[in-house]
Amino acid sequence: MLHGENLTLTYKDGEGLVDALHGLSLSIEDHQFIGILGPSGCGKSSLLYLLSGLRKPTKGEVYLDDRPYSKMPERERVELRRTEFGFVFQQHFLINYLTALENVMVSAPVQDRAHAEQGKALLADLGLGEKLHRFPYELSGGERQRVAIARAMIHRPRVIFADEPTGLLDRRTGLQVMALLRSYREQGSLIAVTHNPEILAEADLIVRLRDGQIASMEDRVARQTQEAAK
Ligand SMILES: Nc1ncnc2c1ncn2[C@@H]1O[C@H](COP(=O)(O)OP(=O)(O)OP(=O)(O)O)[C@@H](O)[C@H]1O
Ligand SMILES: [Mg+2]
Repeated sequence: MLHGENLTLTYKDGEGLVDALHGLSLSIEDHQFIGILGPSGCGKSSLLYLLSGLRKPTKGEVYLDDRPYSKMPERERVELRRTEFGFVFQQHFLINYLTALENVMVSAPVQDRAHAEQGKALLADLGLGEKLHRFPYELSGGERQRVAIARAMIHRPRVIFADEPTGLLDRRTGLQVMALLRSYREQGSLIAVTHNPEILAEADLIVRLRDGQIASMEDRVARQTQEAAK
């Protein structure tokens, strides 16, 4: 469904060129939960930016259902991100003058009562049922992160891109949030970047990155076989 082919991303900074990814290929199927692990700076966020079309690769191509991003007009790519993708970023980018519920509704396809009810239900599932009308500055970092997660889910995207979705949460809340994100697989795919392998226990595929390349890939069967051998 989503396929990155031979992806290379080179950033230019003040001092020169930084190679964030080189020659990486990865395919994601519908209803798959993919976990991406790797040390800080290995290119995890960069990979999400390319797969979601937020950045253009220096080399390589990304395809959604065999349609290459480079052949889509920018307007179509923007529309794709708005309707088919949901994002949970490392920084959550909530709108400060909107309440928690209003921030979630920004992503709703229609501003009707049914979606407002869905938004409330999602926030309640994420433990924020009592804080629907708080502004971001009245919420903790982890609470804001959960608002961003509800915002990424309300329009039922085909793919959710989540960058450290539990990074700001305590262990118990993190596991609850992952359970909700994981259940999303019935509707679409989930690509989650993390430093914490524990939250990827149920992933269909775990991809480990090192220095902008895939160091290893393990599907669920391989992991179970390894566990059994221990
Ligand atoms: N805008 C930028 N300009 C220059 N270099 C960048 C830029 N963004 C990222 N990099 C570099 O690209 C490499 C990959 O960065 P990336 O953010 O993808 O890593 P990451 O795996 O997400 O790290 P972390 O776990 O810390 O979030 C790093 O060496 C980083 O310093
Ligand atoms: Mg990152």
